[in-house]
Amino acid sequence: MLVLGIETSCDDTSVALVLDGREVLSNVFASQVAVHQPFGGVVPELASRSHLEALPGTLDEALRQANRTLADVDGVCVTYGPGLVASLLVGVMAAKGLAAGLGRPFLGVNHLQAHLAACFLADPELTPPFLGLIVSGGHTALVRFDDVDAIRLLGQTRDDAAGEVLDKVGRLMGLPFPAGRYIEESAARGEASRVRLPRAYMGQELAFSFSGLKTAASLAVRDGSHRVEDLCASLETSIIDVLARKSEQALRQTGLPVLCVAGGVAANGPLRARLADVAASCGARLVVPPVVYCTDNGAMVGCLGGRRLMRGAVSPLSLSAAPSLAIEEN
Ligand code: KG4
Ligand code: ZN
Repeated sequence: MLVLGIETSCDDTSVALVLDGREVLSNVFASQVAVHQPFGGVVPELASRSHLEALPGTLDEALRQANRTLADVDGVCVTYGPGLVASLLVGVMAAKGLAAGLGRPFLGVNHLQAHLAACFLADPELTPPFLGLIVSGGHTALVRFDDVDAIRLLGQTRDDAAGEVLDKVGRLMGLPFPAGRYIEESAARGEASRVRLPRAYMGQELAFSFSGLKTAASLAVRDGSHRVEDLCASLETSIIDVLARKSEQALRQTGLPVLCVAGGVAANGPLRARLADVAASCGARLVVPPVVYCTDNGAMVGCLGGRRLMRGAVSPLSLSAAPSLAIEEN
């Protein structure tokens, strides 16, 4: 089944063609980084307008790279939440129009679930159940992935997401937005032990809290007495320590054999290395998608959507954008 995957939930316009929920024929992006960078964050009104401008060309390019036409498409999938409402609406309306015009099934998918489904693209042997760690700009959560339509929340952040802390503290340090990648680069030249930052481990609970770290890191930046490289190293290490500890607890509590990590922060090299050690110490396997499938992309939408469409799932054309869609909702 050849599926079109459309992603417009935040600031990346992406369209992919995915065969049978496993083979990516194309995965095309129109980045808005240059649009939002002067503002140090995503400006919702500019994001939706940019999606509107970029989507037709991105779709054409995805078809061209896959060497297919719209007539070859068997189903249309789109992220319908969570995300910025006006951005989501651009993708949802386009997907509905395409599906209706082509007479093909339409399916809205959950952005957070799609991030995890990208792990199927990294490892064709992957079969649920597995433990999922989602770390992005808007979310930090641990889930139990029992099937493509059965995902249960184990715990999530009570306040800020890990990526949000990197982006906000990065901005204070004068790094470009989104700062995660630049913090990783700078951290590689720094010494974490030179800047003391807190970690909230939340006891045995599978929950996260990063607001204390954000405040402490912001104060350390304003203090002005530390090197940016050392600040970055310490901030990155604090976040990795917490994500590693919680993932280990979740693996031990659930006994699940595989740890899958997804979302933009999963692109972080030291985090990937640390989680590989955590998984090994629990007798589990680690699956992390290649970087291109970690940040927002259409392929993850086509992967999850294709797998669910093949089982007969379909959304009504009355489906609208759901900006606050919960992680467990299909
Ligand atoms: O999944 P994503 O592309 O968008 C959301 O759904 O939020 O994640 C974006 C987040 C940003 O906070 C960005 O700073 C972070 O992922 N990020 C990274 C790296 N690359 C992107 N964080 C740490 N290390 C990286 N290499
Ligand atoms: Zn995302």
